[in-house]
Amino acid sequence: MPNVLAINSSITPDSVSRALVEDVIAALEQVDGPLSVTRRDLGAEPIPHLTAATLAGVRGVPQSVAELATRALSDALIAELRAADAIILGSPMYNFGIATPLRAWFDHVIRAGETFSYDSGAPTGLITGKRVIVVESRGGQYTATPNASADFQEPYLRHLLSFIGMTDVTFVRAEGVAFGPAARTEALEGARSDIAALVRQFNAAA
Ligand SMILES: Cc1cc2nc3c(=O)[nH]c(=O)nc-3n(C[C@H](O)[C@H](O)[C@H](O)COP(=O)(O)O)c2cc1C
Repeated sequence: MPNVLAINSSITPDSVSRALVEDVIAALEQVDGPLSVTRRDLGAEPIPHLTAATLAGVRGVPQSVAELATRALSDALIAELRAADAIILGSPMYNFGIATPLRAWFDHVIRAGETFSYDSGAPTGLITGKRVIVVESRGGQYTATPNASADFQEPYLRHLLSFIGMTDVTFVRAEGVAFGPAARTEALEGARSDIAALVRQFNAAA
């Protein structure tokens, strides 16, 4: 049974990205059959941001209780990534970038020797062979508009993911959700239609 890691990072209960992550799981199940899904909701259960007291857990030699706890959390998060065949990532746009709970997750999983290496002189991502689907939700419109240059979310995510080896990444966007209930519904419907098309494409390629 394929392993899927579903990561959410919205801080709101009525979240567009969280709903769409569930839609991606349901659509994949129609194609692949039952999936083993591990859910990591960083918005509902945030992981701590790194501090001077915990940094050595991911960069250095952990010694204190706090540093060892951070190392254990980082190990667990990286193990979830390694075990996944596919990763579905829910990413709301906050202040033109990613939500800070998601940034805290990246700070724990981007670890030298574990998820990337400079051994060959150039950075090499070590988490390879994963299919990644990122669901982005945005209050405004960015795609093919003059606001496109203010989209620091998608290029940043693409870079972070590829830095640790994940280059098979597809983005699904729900945009303009802050423009009222009709616009929110339209954005959800558009994203759902994109998800259905994407899964049909996976099916055709299989
Ligand atoms: C703290 C915060 C910052 C936001 N910043 C932006 C922004 O910079 N650009 C934008 O288009 N929407 C912004 N929004 C709107 C969200 O992107 C929008 O509500 C989206 O649906 C959030 O995803 P979610 O519904 O999964 O939580 C912001 C919302 C919050 C709560």
